[in-house]
Amino acid sequence: MSFIEIRDISKSYGDVPVINGLSMSVEQHQVVSLIGPSGSGKSTLLRCINGLEPIHSGEILVHGDRITGPGVDVDALRRQIGIVFQGYNLFPHMTVLENVTLAPIQVLKQPREAAEERAMTLLKRIGLAHKAKEYPDRMSGGQQQRVAIVRALAMDPMVLLLDEITSALDPELVSEVLNIVRDLAQEGMTMLLATHEMGFAREVSSKVCFLCDGSVYEEGPPEQIFGDPQRERTRGFLRSIREAKRI
Ligand SMILES: Nc1ncnc2c1ncn2[C@@H]1O[C@H](COP(=O)(O)OP(=O)(O)OP(=O)(O)O)[C@@H](O)[C@H]1O
Ligand SMILES: [Mg+2]
Repeated sequence: MSFIEIRDISKSYGDVPVINGLSMSVEQHQVVSLIGPSGSGKSTLLRCINGLEPIHSGEILVHGDRITGPGVDVDALRRQIGIVFQGYNLFPHMTVLENVTLAPIQVLKQPREAAEERAMTLLKRIGLAHKAKEYPDRMSGGQQQRVAIVRALAMDPMVLLLDEITSALDPELVSEVLNIVRDLAQEGMTMLLATHEMGFAREVSSKVCFLCDGSVYEEGPPEQIFGDPQRERTRGFLRSIREAKRI
């Protein structure tokens, strides 16, 4: 069985179907990228895996445990599945260190000292230990996004879900965030990421899934999806991305 198994899931908002019989899997230590047009369901899928959105049918299993349906402890699930969004969502009234240690102290009941020590180790690794006492609004977008990743890592998640984490950043700040993801991939962190950084997806992913109308339209190794896509809409999407870059 795969580490994450998504089996034939569907979800609608009101009458509007957003996820339509979507199935896919992620192996442990794999990095899987979700690409596809705006509105194809990438963010919704990540939110369903994190238990932020209920699904209407199908099932999701993580590490063999069914995480959807009645009787699932959503809080326990969220402790094990980290999610980072485009907008970093750091608490503005808390320092970097307070942001990173909040959940470990309140949710995991770690002693403050241990939580701070671990937070400092993580901050050091991303070169931001000197910003521990700083407030988020006095930092660059790239720095804030790196702190948001560290905040997720401080919970020692089994899986990290990343939703367009570079899309709010100025181009010169994108690479510092992608470097962290690259390092995490090398360390074997299991990650599922929605991205429109196609070059990055090609480089870092074990598998790329092209989403279209709420289901996986084509999936395969990055060389195939980017170099030799098999299906019409995948080709059309990649063509439009390349054309947009040329303008
Ligand atoms: N809270 C919501 N209420 C109603 N409709 C929603 C909600 N969130 C998303 N949708 C709709 O669901 C569809 C899928 O949205 P989703 O955000 O998953 O797409 P996406 O692939 O992440 O797009 P993007 O590339 O623009 O981030 C869209 O049509 C969107 O309008
Ligand atoms: Mg999205």
